[in-house]
Amino acid sequence: MTNNICCVGAGYVGGPTMAVIADFCPDKLVTVVDINEERIKAWNDSDLRNLPVFEPGLEDIIRRVRNRNLFFSVDVKKGIEQADIIFISVNTPIKEKGIGAGQTSDLRWVESCARQIKTYSKGHTIVVEKSTLPVKTAQTIKSILDGVVKDINNFGSKKTFSVLSNPEFLAEGTAIKDLECPDRVLIGGDDNDAINCLVGIYSKWINKEKVLTTDLWSSELSKLISNAFLAQRISSINTISALCEATGAKIKDVSLAVGMDRRIGKYFLNSGPGFGGSCFKKDISNLVYISNHYGLFEVAEYWQKVLDINSWQQSRFVELIVKTMFSTISSKTIAILGFSFKANTNDTRESPAIYICKKLIEEGAFLKIYDPKVKCSQIKKDLSSDNKTVEEEKWLYSDSIYETFNNADAALFLTEWDEFESLNWEEISKKMRRPSWVFDTRSIVNMEDVKKSGINIWQVGYGN
Ligand code: NAD
Ligand code: UGA
Repeated sequence: MTNNICCVGAGYVGGPTMAVIADFCPDKLVTVVDINEERIKAWNDSDLRNLPVFEPGLEDIIRRVRNRNLFFSVDVKKGIEQADIIFISVNTPIKEKGIGAGQTSDLRWVESCARQIKTYSKGHTIVVEKSTLPVKTAQTIKSILDGVVKDINNFGSKKTFSVLSNPEFLAEGTAIKDLECPDRVLIGGDDNDAINCLVGIYSKWINKEKVLTTDLWSSELSKLISNAFLAQRISSINTISALCEATGAKIKDVSLAVGMDRRIGKYFLNSGPGFGGSCFKKDISNLVYISNHYGLFEVAEYWQKVLDINSWQQSRFVELIVKTMFSTISSKTIAILGFSFKANTNDTRESPAIYICKKLIEEGAFLKIYDPKVKCSQIKKDLSSDNKTVEEEKWLYSDSIYETFNNADAALFLTEWDEFESLNWEEISKKMRRPSWVFDTRSIVNMEDVKKSGINIWQVGYGN
Protein backbone atom coordinates (compact mmCIF):
# COMPACT_ATOMS: atom_id res chain seq x y z
CA MET A 1 0.00 0.00 0.00
CA THR A 2 1.38 3.38 -0.98
CA ASN A 3 0.41 6.49 0.86
CA ASN A 4 2.80 9.13 -0.29
CA ILE A 5 2.98 10.12 -3.92
CA CYS A 6 5.53 12.52 -5.34
CA CYS A 7 5.52 13.90 -8.87
CA VAL A 8 8.70 15.46 -10.23
CA GLY A 9 7.71 18.13 -12.77
CA ALA A 10 4.85 20.59 -12.23
CA GLY A 11 4.07 21.21 -15.89
CA TYR A 12 1.10 20.64 -18.17
CA VAL A 13 1.09 16.94 -17.25
CA GLY A 14 2.37 16.85 -13.66
CA GLY A 15 0.05 19.58 -12.32
CA PRO A 16 -3.33 18.45 -13.72
CA THR A 17 -2.57 14.71 -13.35
CA MET A 18 -1.67 14.98 -9.69
CA ALA A 19 -4.63 17.29 -9.01
CA VAL A 20 -6.98 14.60 -10.32
CA ILE A 21 -5.23 11.80 -8.39
CA ALA A 22 -5.40 13.88 -5.19
CA ASP A 23 -9.08 14.57 -5.83
CA PHE A 24 -10.00 10.89 -6.23
CA CYS A 25 -7.60 9.58 -3.57
CA PRO A 26 -8.11 11.74 -0.46
CA ASP A 27 -6.20 9.14 1.59
CA LYS A 28 -2.97 9.82 -0.37
CA LEU A 29 -0.58 12.68 0.24
CA VAL A 30 0.41 14.03 -3.17
CA THR A 31 3.36 16.39 -3.52
CA VAL A 32 4.36 17.96 -6.83
CA VAL A 33 7.92 19.24 -6.90
CA ASP A 34 9.73 21.34 -9.48
CA ILE A 35 13.05 23.15 -9.79
CA ASN A 36 11.25 26.08 -11.41
CA GLU A 37 10.46 28.40 -8.47
CA GLU A 38 8.28 30.71 -10.50
CA ARG A 39 6.09 27.81 -11.62
CA ILE A 40 5.65 26.49 -8.07
CA LYS A 41 4.83 29.99 -6.87
CA ALA A 42 2.15 30.23 -9.54
CA TRP A 43 0.68 26.83 -8.55
CA ASN A 44 0.46 28.15 -4.98
CA ASP A 45 -1.02 31.53 -5.96
CA SER A 46 -4.17 32.35 -4.01
CA ASP A 47 -5.66 33.89 -7.17
CA LEU A 48 -6.44 30.76 -9.19
CA ARG A 49 -6.43 32.76 -12.44
CA ASN A 50 -2.64 32.85 -12.04
CA LEU A 51 -2.15 29.07 -12.17
CA PRO A 52 0.66 28.35 -14.66
CA VAL A 53 -1.55 26.04 -16.70
CA PHE A 54 -4.95 27.02 -18.06
CA GLU A 55 -7.29 24.04 -18.36
CA PRO A 56 -11.09 24.07 -18.16
CA GLY A 57 -12.11 22.55 -14.79
CA LEU A 58 -8.63 22.72 -13.24
CA GLU A 59 -9.28 25.70 -10.96
CA ASP A 60 -12.22 23.94 -9.28
CA ILE A 61 -10.13 20.89 -8.44
CA ILE A 62 -7.20 22.95 -7.19
CA ARG A 63 -9.60 24.91 -4.96
CA ARG A 64 -10.79 21.59 -3.45
CA VAL A 65 -7.51 19.74 -2.97
CA ARG A 66 -4.64 22.22 -2.68
CA ASN A 67 -3.21 22.20 0.83
CA ARG A 68 -5.64 19.36 1.69
CA ASN A 69 -3.73 16.43 0.20
CA LEU A 70 -2.07 18.16 -2.76
CA PHE A 71 1.03 20.29 -2.24
CA PHE A 72 3.32 22.13 -4.65
CA SER A 73 6.91 22.63 -3.53
CA VAL A 74 10.45 23.40 -4.69
CA ASP A 75 11.81 21.03 -2.04
CA VAL A 76 12.63 18.17 -4.41
CA LYS A 77 14.68 16.35 -1.76
CA LYS A 78 11.87 16.24 0.79
CA GLY A 79 9.27 15.32 -1.83
CA ILE A 80 11.33 12.33 -2.96
CA GLU A 81 12.37 11.29 0.57
CA GLN A 82 8.83 10.95 1.83
CA ALA A 83 7.38 9.20 -1.22
CA ASP A 84 6.86 5.54 -1.87
CA ILE A 85 5.72 6.14 -5.42
CA ILE A 86 7.32 8.77 -7.66
CA PHE A 87 6.04 9.95 -11.04
CA ILE A 88 8.62 11.38 -13.43
CA SER A 89 6.77 14.10 -15.38
CA VAL A 90 9.66 16.21 -16.55
CA ASN A 91 10.10 17.72 -19.99
CA THR A 92 11.62 15.62 -22.79
CA PRO A 93 12.11 18.05 -25.68
CA ILE A 94 13.96 17.29 -28.88
CA LYS A 95 17.76 17.52 -28.61
CA GLU A 96 19.09 20.81 -29.93
CA LYS A 97 22.76 19.86 -30.26
CA GLY A 98 24.98 16.81 -30.78
CA ILE A 99 24.16 13.32 -31.99
CA GLY A 100 20.47 12.96 -32.84
CA ALA A 101 19.90 16.74 -32.71
CA GLY A 102 16.49 17.66 -34.13
CA GLN A 103 15.38 14.02 -34.00
CA THR A 104 15.61 12.34 -30.63
CA SER A 105 14.57 13.46 -27.15
CA ASP A 106 16.98 15.19 -24.86
CA LEU A 107 16.90 12.97 -21.78
CA ARG A 108 19.00 15.16 -19.53
CA TRP A 109 16.03 16.13 -17.31
CA VAL A 110 14.91 12.50 -17.00
CA GLU A 111 18.43 11.45 -16.12
CA SER A 112 18.92 14.14 -13.50
CA CYS A 113 15.54 13.25 -12.05
CA ALA A 114 16.54 9.57 -11.80
CA ARG A 115 19.77 10.58 -10.06
CA GLN A 116 17.84 12.73 -7.58
CA ILE A 117 15.60 9.74 -6.85
CA LYS A 118 18.59 7.48 -6.36
CA THR A 119 20.13 9.97 -3.90
CA TYR A 120 17.12 10.99 -1.83
CA SER A 121 14.72 8.05 -1.82
CA LYS A 122 14.29 5.73 1.15
CA GLY A 123 13.54 2.00 1.34
CA HIS A 124 11.56 0.61 -1.60
CA THR A 125 10.32 3.11 -4.21
CA ILE A 126 8.12 2.65 -7.25
CA VAL A 127 9.35 4.92 -10.03
CA VAL A 128 6.79 5.68 -12.71
CA GLU A 129 7.74 7.02 -16.13
CA LYS A 130 4.95 9.48 -16.90
CA SER A 131 6.92 11.57 -19.38
CA THR A 132 6.81 10.39 -22.99
CA LEU A 133 10.09 8.69 -23.66
CA PRO A 134 11.80 6.91 -26.53
CA VAL A 135 11.52 3.13 -26.38
CA LYS A 136 13.86 1.52 -23.86
CA THR A 137 14.33 4.62 -21.70
CA ALA A 138 12.99 2.71 -18.72
CA GLN A 139 16.13 0.63 -19.13
CA THR A 140 18.23 3.80 -18.75
CA ILE A 141 16.33 4.77 -15.62
CA LYS A 142 16.77 1.26 -14.24
CA SER A 143 20.52 1.36 -14.94
CA ILE A 144 20.86 4.64 -13.08
CA LEU A 145 18.88 3.34 -10.11
CA ASP A 146 20.64 -0.04 -10.14
CA GLY A 147 23.64 -0.89 -8.05
CA VAL A 148 24.12 -1.05 -4.34
CA VAL A 149 22.86 2.09 -2.72
CA LYS A 150 22.95 2.08 1.03
CA ASP A 151 20.02 3.81 2.64
CA ILE A 152 21.72 5.68 5.46
CA ASN A 153 18.35 6.54 6.92
CA ASN A 154 17.41 2.88 7.19
CA PHE A 155 20.30 1.28 9.08
CA GLY A 156 22.37 0.99 5.89
CA SER A 157 19.94 -1.41 4.19
CA LYS A 158 19.83 -1.45 0.38
CA LYS A 159 17.47 0.90 -1.43
CA THR A 160 15.28 -0.88 -3.98
CA PHE A 161 13.28 0.35 -6.95
CA SER A 162 10.60 -0.88 -9.33
CA VAL A 163 10.35 1.00 -12.60
CA LEU A 164 7.00 1.25 -14.41
CA SER A 165 5.95 2.98 -17.61
CA ASN A 166 2.60 4.78 -17.38
CA PRO A 167 2.36 7.14 -20.35
CA GLU A 168 -0.12 10.00 -20.24
CA PHE A 169 -2.69 10.37 -23.02
CA LEU A 170 -4.36 13.63 -21.97
CA ALA A 171 -4.78 16.37 -24.56
CA GLU A 172 -4.39 19.99 -23.56
CA GLY A 173 -7.64 21.91 -23.41
CA THR A 174 -9.50 18.75 -22.32
CA ALA A 175 -6.96 17.51 -19.77
CA ILE A 176 -9.32 17.25 -16.82
CA LYS A 177 -12.01 15.41 -18.78
CA ASP A 178 -9.35 13.09 -20.25
CA LEU A 179 -7.89 12.35 -16.81
CA GLU A 180 -11.25 11.82 -15.13
CA CYS A 181 -12.59 9.65 -17.92
CA PRO A 182 -9.72 8.26 -19.99
CA ASP A 183 -10.17 5.88 -22.94
CA ARG A 184 -7.55 3.71 -21.29
CA VAL A 185 -4.74 3.73 -18.74
CA LEU A 186 -1.58 1.91 -19.79
CA ILE A 187 0.89 0.42 -17.34
CA GLY A 188 4.06 -1.35 -18.41
CA GLY A 189 6.41 -3.19 -16.10
CA ASP A 190 7.77 -6.49 -14.87
CA ASP A 191 7.04 -6.24 -11.14
CA ASN A 192 3.49 -7.38 -10.44
CA ASP A 193 3.35 -5.88 -6.95
CA ALA A 194 4.30 -2.47 -8.30
CA ILE A 195 1.82 -2.80 -11.17
CA ASN A 196 -0.97 -3.75 -8.76
CA CYS A 197 -0.13 -0.78 -6.58
CA LEU A 198 -0.53 1.64 -9.51
CA VAL A 199 -3.68 -0.16 -10.72
CA GLY A 200 -5.01 0.31 -7.17
CA ILE A 201 -4.62 4.10 -7.44
CA TYR A 202 -6.35 4.35 -10.83
CA SER A 203 -9.12 1.96 -9.88
CA LYS A 204 -10.36 4.56 -7.37
CA TRP A 205 -12.18 6.18 -10.32
CA ILE A 206 -11.48 4.19 -13.49
CA ASN A 207 -13.06 0.91 -14.50
CA LYS A 208 -10.56 -1.95 -14.27
CA GLU A 209 -11.32 -3.00 -17.89
CA LYS A 210 -9.84 0.29 -19.03
CA VAL A 211 -6.53 -0.36 -17.27
CA LEU A 212 -4.19 -2.25 -19.60
CA THR A 213 -1.00 -3.82 -18.40
CA THR A 214 1.96 -4.88 -20.51
CA ASP A 215 5.75 -4.92 -20.54
CA LEU A 216 7.83 -1.72 -20.33
CA TRP A 217 8.83 -1.45 -23.98
CA SER A 218 5.36 -2.15 -25.40
CA SER A 219 4.02 0.56 -23.12
CA GLU A 220 6.64 3.11 -24.19
CA LEU A 221 6.13 2.29 -27.87
CA SER A 222 2.32 2.43 -27.63
CA LYS A 223 2.50 6.04 -26.48
CA LEU A 224 4.67 7.12 -29.43
CA ILE A 225 2.45 5.23 -31.85
CA SER A 226 -0.79 6.73 -30.47
CA ASN A 227 0.56 10.22 -31.10
CA ALA A 228 1.95 9.22 -34.50
CA PHE A 229 -1.44 7.84 -35.62
CA LEU A 230 -3.26 10.98 -34.43
CA ALA A 231 -0.79 13.25 -36.21
CA GLN A 232 -0.97 11.09 -39.33
CA ARG A 233 -4.73 11.70 -39.57
CA ILE A 234 -4.16 15.45 -39.38
CA SER A 235 -1.55 15.36 -42.16
CA SER A 236 -3.88 13.16 -44.21
CA ILE A 237 -6.82 15.55 -43.93
CA ASN A 238 -4.55 18.55 -44.56
CA THR A 239 -3.45 17.09 -47.90
CA ILE A 240 -7.14 16.69 -48.75
CA SER A 241 -7.87 20.30 -47.73
CA ALA A 242 -5.56 21.42 -50.55
CA LEU A 243 -7.28 19.05 -52.97
CA CYS A 244 -10.70 20.41 -51.95
CA GLU A 245 -9.52 23.99 -52.47
CA ALA A 246 -8.31 23.01 -55.95
CA THR A 247 -11.42 21.09 -56.97
CA GLY A 248 -14.31 22.81 -55.20
CA ALA A 249 -15.18 19.83 -52.98
CA LYS A 250 -16.11 20.89 -49.43
CA ILE A 251 -13.63 19.69 -46.81
CA LYS A 252 -16.15 19.48 -43.96
CA ASP A 253 -18.54 17.37 -46.04
CA VAL A 254 -15.68 15.08 -47.04
CA SER A 255 -14.53 14.74 -43.39
CA LEU A 256 -18.07 13.98 -42.29
CA ALA A 257 -18.68 11.40 -44.98
CA VAL A 258 -15.36 9.68 -44.41
CA GLY A 259 -15.53 9.84 -40.61
CA MET A 260 -19.03 8.33 -40.44
CA ASP A 261 -17.48 5.02 -41.43
CA ARG A 262 -17.03 3.46 -38.00
CA ARG A 263 -13.82 1.81 -39.18
CA ILE A 264 -12.36 5.27 -39.72
CA GLY A 265 -14.09 7.32 -37.01
CA LYS A 266 -14.96 11.02 -36.89
CA TYR A 267 -12.19 12.42 -34.68
CA PHE A 268 -9.02 14.19 -35.80
CA LEU A 269 -10.36 14.98 -39.24
CA ASN A 270 -10.36 18.79 -38.96
CA SER A 271 -8.02 20.44 -41.42
CA GLY A 272 -6.07 23.40 -40.11
CA PRO A 273 -2.68 25.11 -40.02
CA GLY A 274 -0.91 21.86 -39.13
CA PHE A 275 -0.50 20.22 -35.75
CA GLY A 276 1.33 22.08 -33.02
CA GLY A 277 1.92 21.29 -29.37
CA SER A 278 4.96 20.01 -27.58
CA CYS A 279 4.54 16.36 -28.47
CA PHE A 280 3.43 15.31 -31.97
CA LYS A 281 6.52 16.60 -33.76
CA LYS A 282 8.86 15.36 -31.04
CA ASP A 283 7.27 11.92 -30.78
CA ILE A 284 7.19 11.31 -34.55
CA SER A 285 10.80 12.53 -34.80
CA ASN A 286 11.67 9.93 -32.16
CA LEU A 287 9.84 7.27 -34.15
CA VAL A 288 11.78 8.22 -37.30
CA TYR A 289 15.02 8.13 -35.32
CA ILE A 290 14.34 4.72 -33.80
CA SER A 291 13.30 3.28 -37.17
CA ASN A 292 16.50 4.52 -38.80
CA HIS A 293 18.49 3.16 -35.85
CA TYR A 294 17.09 -0.31 -36.50
CA GLY A 295 17.76 0.00 -40.25
CA LEU A 296 14.04 0.28 -41.06
CA PHE A 297 14.53 3.09 -43.56
CA GLU A 298 11.17 2.73 -45.36
CA VAL A 299 9.38 2.94 -42.01
CA ALA A 300 11.34 6.06 -41.12
CA GLU A 301 10.57 7.69 -44.49
CA TYR A 302 6.87 6.91 -44.13
CA TRP A 303 6.59 8.73 -40.79
CA GLN A 304 8.90 11.55 -41.88
CA LYS A 305 6.32 12.38 -44.55
CA VAL A 306 3.72 13.11 -41.84
CA LEU A 307 6.07 15.81 -40.52
CA ASP A 308 6.88 17.11 -44.00
CA ILE A 309 3.20 17.56 -44.86
CA ASN A 310 2.72 19.47 -41.61
CA SER A 311 5.44 21.98 -42.54
CA TRP A 312 4.14 22.17 -46.10
CA GLN A 313 0.66 23.13 -44.92
CA GLN A 314 2.09 26.06 -42.96
CA SER A 315 4.35 27.32 -45.72
CA ARG A 316 1.62 27.06 -48.36
CA PHE A 317 -0.59 29.30 -46.19
CA VAL A 318 2.10 31.98 -46.00
CA GLU A 319 2.61 31.87 -49.79
CA LEU A 320 -1.12 32.03 -50.38
CA ILE A 321 -1.54 35.09 -48.12
CA VAL A 322 1.28 36.98 -49.83
CA LYS A 323 0.06 36.05 -53.31
CA THR A 324 -3.55 37.00 -52.56
CA MET A 325 -2.59 40.39 -51.16
CA PHE A 326 -1.17 41.49 -54.55
CA SER A 327 2.11 39.61 -53.98
CA THR A 328 3.33 41.95 -51.26
CA ILE A 329 2.46 42.35 -47.60
CA SER A 330 5.23 44.83 -46.97
CA SER A 331 3.90 47.60 -44.69
CA LYS A 332 0.46 45.98 -44.58
CA THR A 333 -1.21 45.28 -41.23
CA ILE A 334 -2.39 41.77 -40.48
CA ALA A 335 -4.58 40.98 -37.47
CA ILE A 336 -3.65 37.60 -35.97
CA LEU A 337 -6.50 35.86 -34.17
CA GLY A 338 -5.24 33.14 -31.88
CA PHE A 339 -1.67 32.27 -30.95
CA SER A 340 -1.98 29.10 -28.80
CA PHE A 341 -1.49 25.79 -30.65
CA LYS A 342 -5.15 24.89 -30.11
CA ALA A 343 -8.18 26.33 -28.30
CA ASN A 344 -8.65 26.18 -24.52
CA THR A 345 -4.98 26.24 -23.62
CA ASN A 346 -2.39 28.96 -22.99
CA ASP A 347 0.35 26.69 -24.37
CA THR A 348 2.18 27.94 -27.46
CA ARG A 349 4.81 25.23 -27.83
CA GLU A 350 5.27 24.43 -31.54
CA SER A 351 2.20 26.52 -32.31
CA PRO A 352 1.75 26.98 -36.08
CA ALA A 353 1.27 30.67 -35.19
CA ILE A 354 4.96 31.01 -34.36
CA TYR A 355 6.22 29.89 -37.77
CA ILE A 356 3.50 31.73 -39.69
CA CYS A 357 3.91 35.03 -37.78
CA LYS A 358 7.69 34.97 -38.17
CA LYS A 359 7.35 34.43 -41.92
CA LEU A 360 4.80 37.24 -42.27
CA ILE A 361 7.12 39.59 -40.36
CA GLU A 362 10.00 38.52 -42.62
CA GLU A 363 7.84 39.51 -45.59
CA GLY A 364 7.50 42.99 -44.09
CA ALA A 365 4.01 42.83 -42.55
CA PHE A 366 3.05 44.51 -39.29
CA LEU A 367 1.09 42.18 -36.99
CA LYS A 368 -1.52 42.86 -34.32
CA ILE A 369 -1.82 39.71 -32.23
CA TYR A 370 -4.80 38.73 -30.09
CA ASP A 371 -5.25 35.57 -28.02
CA PRO A 372 -7.66 35.22 -25.09
CA LYS A 373 -5.21 33.24 -22.94
CA VAL A 374 -1.64 33.73 -24.20
CA LYS A 375 0.25 36.54 -22.50
CA CYS A 376 2.23 39.21 -24.37
CA SER A 377 5.47 38.10 -22.66
CA GLN A 378 5.03 34.56 -24.05
CA ILE A 379 4.48 35.84 -27.61
CA LYS A 380 7.58 38.00 -27.24
CA LYS A 381 9.62 34.91 -26.29
CA ASP A 382 8.16 32.89 -29.15
CA LEU A 383 8.81 35.51 -31.80
CA SER A 384 12.46 35.90 -30.88
CA SER A 385 14.91 33.49 -32.41
CA ASP A 386 18.61 32.76 -31.86
CA ASN A 387 18.44 35.11 -28.89
CA LYS A 388 17.62 37.96 -31.25
CA THR A 389 14.36 39.63 -30.31
CA VAL A 390 12.05 40.40 -33.19
CA GLU A 391 11.75 44.15 -32.84
CA GLU A 392 8.50 45.05 -31.21
CA GLU A 393 7.76 47.68 -33.88
CA LYS A 394 6.96 44.70 -36.09
CA TRP A 395 4.07 43.48 -33.98
CA LEU A 396 1.74 44.67 -31.29
CA TYR A 397 -0.16 42.79 -28.61
CA SER A 398 -3.85 43.45 -28.57
CA ASP A 399 -6.00 42.67 -25.55
CA SER A 400 -9.31 43.58 -27.15
CA ILE A 401 -10.58 41.45 -29.97
CA TYR A 402 -12.41 44.17 -31.92
CA GLU A 403 -9.55 46.64 -31.55
CA THR A 404 -7.27 44.09 -33.28
CA PHE A 405 -9.03 44.72 -36.61
CA ASN A 406 -8.47 48.52 -36.61
CA ASN A 407 -6.80 49.53 -39.88
CA ALA A 408 -5.89 45.92 -40.67
CA ASP A 409 -5.63 44.89 -44.32
CA ALA A 410 -6.18 41.24 -43.43
CA ALA A 411 -7.27 39.08 -40.53
CA LEU A 412 -5.69 35.66 -40.10
CA PHE A 413 -7.42 33.09 -37.88
CA LEU A 414 -4.96 30.57 -36.45
CA THR A 415 -6.65 29.09 -33.35
CA GLU A 416 -10.21 27.80 -33.12
CA TRP A 417 -11.30 29.78 -30.03
CA ASP A 418 -15.12 29.72 -29.58
CA GLU A 419 -15.35 33.51 -29.50
CA PHE A 420 -14.14 33.68 -33.12
CA GLU A 421 -17.23 31.90 -34.39
CA SER A 422 -19.76 34.64 -33.67
CA LEU A 423 -18.04 37.90 -34.55
CA ASN A 424 -19.94 40.94 -35.77
CA TRP A 425 -18.58 41.24 -39.31
CA GLU A 426 -20.56 44.41 -40.09
CA GLU A 427 -18.72 46.15 -37.28
CA ILE A 428 -15.36 44.62 -38.23
CA SER A 429 -15.67 45.62 -41.89
CA LYS A 430 -15.90 49.28 -40.82
CA LYS A 431 -12.61 48.95 -38.93
CA MET A 432 -10.53 47.29 -41.65
CA ARG A 433 -8.78 48.98 -44.57
CA ARG A 434 -10.22 48.18 -48.04
CA PRO A 435 -9.72 45.93 -49.88
CA SER A 436 -9.71 43.62 -46.86
CA TRP A 437 -9.26 39.87 -46.52
CA VAL A 438 -9.95 37.16 -44.02
CA PHE A 439 -7.75 34.05 -44.06
CA ASP A 440 -9.36 31.38 -41.95
CA THR A 441 -7.00 28.45 -41.39
CA ARG A 442 -9.50 26.65 -39.11
CA SER A 443 -12.64 27.19 -41.19
CA ILE A 444 -14.50 28.51 -38.16
CA VAL A 445 -15.77 31.93 -39.19
CA ASN A 446 -19.10 32.31 -40.95
CA MET A 447 -18.12 32.66 -44.62
CA GLU A 448 -21.47 34.12 -45.72
CA ASP A 449 -21.42 36.84 -43.01
CA VAL A 450 -17.89 37.83 -43.95
CA LYS A 451 -18.75 38.01 -47.65
CA LYS A 452 -21.91 40.02 -46.93
CA SER A 453 -19.82 42.59 -45.06
CA GLY A 454 -17.74 43.19 -48.19
CA ILE A 455 -14.59 41.46 -46.97
CA ASN A 456 -12.85 38.88 -49.18
CA ILE A 457 -12.46 35.48 -47.54
CA TRP A 458 -10.29 32.40 -47.98
CA GLN A 459 -10.93 29.30 -45.86
CA VAL A 460 -8.88 26.14 -45.51
CA GLY A 461 -10.46 23.36 -47.53
CA TYR A 462 -12.77 25.79 -49.38
CA GLY A 463 -10.51 28.41 -50.94
CA ASN A 464 -12.03 31.75 -51.98
P1 NAD B 1 6.51 20.92 -18.98
O1 NAD B 1 7.71 21.50 -19.61
O2 NAD B 1 5.24 21.72 -18.94
O3 NAD B 1 6.84 20.50 -17.46
C1 NAD B 1 7.99 19.82 -17.09
C2 NAD B 1 8.48 20.39 -15.75
O4 NAD B 1 9.53 19.53 -15.23
C3 NAD B 1 9.08 21.78 -15.83
O5 NAD B 1 8.34 22.68 -15.01
C4 NAD B 1 10.52 21.61 -15.34
O6 NAD B 1 11.01 22.70 -14.59
C5 NAD B 1 10.42 20.37 -14.48
N1 NAD B 1 11.70 19.66 -14.27
C6 NAD B 1 12.60 19.27 -15.21
N2 NAD B 1 13.61 18.59 -14.64
C7 NAD B 1 13.37 18.56 -13.30
C8 NAD B 1 14.04 18.01 -12.18
N3 NAD B 1 15.18 17.31 -12.35
N4 NAD B 1 13.52 18.16 -10.96
C9 NAD B 1 12.35 18.85 -10.79
N5 NAD B 1 11.65 19.39 -11.81
C10 NAD B 1 12.14 19.24 -13.06
O7 NAD B 1 6.23 19.54 -19.73
P2 NAD B 1 4.83 18.79 -19.91
O8 NAD B 1 4.06 19.37 -21.04
O9 NAD B 1 4.17 18.65 -18.58
O10 NAD B 1 5.33 17.36 -20.41
C11 NAD B 1 6.00 16.47 -19.54
C12 NAD B 1 6.13 15.13 -20.22
O11 NAD B 1 4.83 14.59 -20.48
C13 NAD B 1 6.83 15.17 -21.59
O12 NAD B 1 7.58 14.01 -21.72
C14 NAD B 1 5.68 15.16 -22.58
O13 NAD B 1 6.07 14.57 -23.80
C15 NAD B 1 4.66 14.29 -21.87
N6 NAD B 1 3.26 14.56 -22.23
C16 NAD B 1 2.82 15.85 -22.37
C17 NAD B 1 1.47 16.09 -22.65
C18 NAD B 1 0.95 17.48 -22.81
O14 NAD B 1 -0.19 17.63 -23.20
N7 NAD B 1 1.71 18.52 -22.52
C19 NAD B 1 0.58 15.01 -22.74
C20 NAD B 1 1.07 13.72 -22.57
C21 NAD B 1 2.41 13.50 -22.30
C1 UGA C 1 -1.93 15.23 -28.12
C2 UGA C 1 -2.75 13.93 -28.03
O1 UGA C 1 -4.07 14.20 -28.49
C3 UGA C 1 -2.79 13.41 -26.60
O2 UGA C 1 -3.47 12.17 -26.57
C4 UGA C 1 -1.36 13.22 -26.09
O3 UGA C 1 -1.36 12.81 -24.75
C5 UGA C 1 -0.61 14.54 -26.19
O4 UGA C 1 -0.64 14.99 -27.59
C6 UGA C 1 0.83 14.44 -25.82
O5 UGA C 1 1.40 13.38 -25.83
O6 UGA C 1 1.34 15.51 -25.57
P1 UGA C 1 -2.36 17.78 -27.59
O7 UGA C 1 -1.14 17.98 -28.41
O8 UGA C 1 -2.44 18.41 -26.27
O9 UGA C 1 -2.60 16.21 -27.37
O10 UGA C 1 -3.65 18.26 -28.42
P2 UGA C 1 -4.43 17.66 -29.68
O11 UGA C 1 -5.87 17.84 -29.45
O12 UGA C 1 -3.98 16.29 -30.03
O13 UGA C 1 -4.00 18.66 -30.84
C7 UGA C 1 -2.69 18.65 -31.37
C8 UGA C 1 -2.63 19.55 -32.57
O14 UGA C 1 -3.37 19.00 -33.66
C9 UGA C 1 -3.23 20.94 -32.34
O15 UGA C 1 -2.42 21.90 -32.97
C10 UGA C 1 -4.59 20.87 -32.98
O16 UGA C 1 -5.07 22.11 -33.42
C11 UGA C 1 -4.30 19.95 -34.16
N1 UGA C 1 -5.50 19.24 -34.65
C12 UGA C 1 -6.15 18.37 -33.86
C13 UGA C 1 -5.93 19.46 -35.96
O17 UGA C 1 -5.33 20.26 -36.72
N2 UGA C 1 -7.03 18.78 -36.41
C14 UGA C 1 -7.70 17.89 -35.64
O18 UGA C 1 -8.70 17.31 -36.13
C15 UGA C 1 -7.25 17.69 -34.33
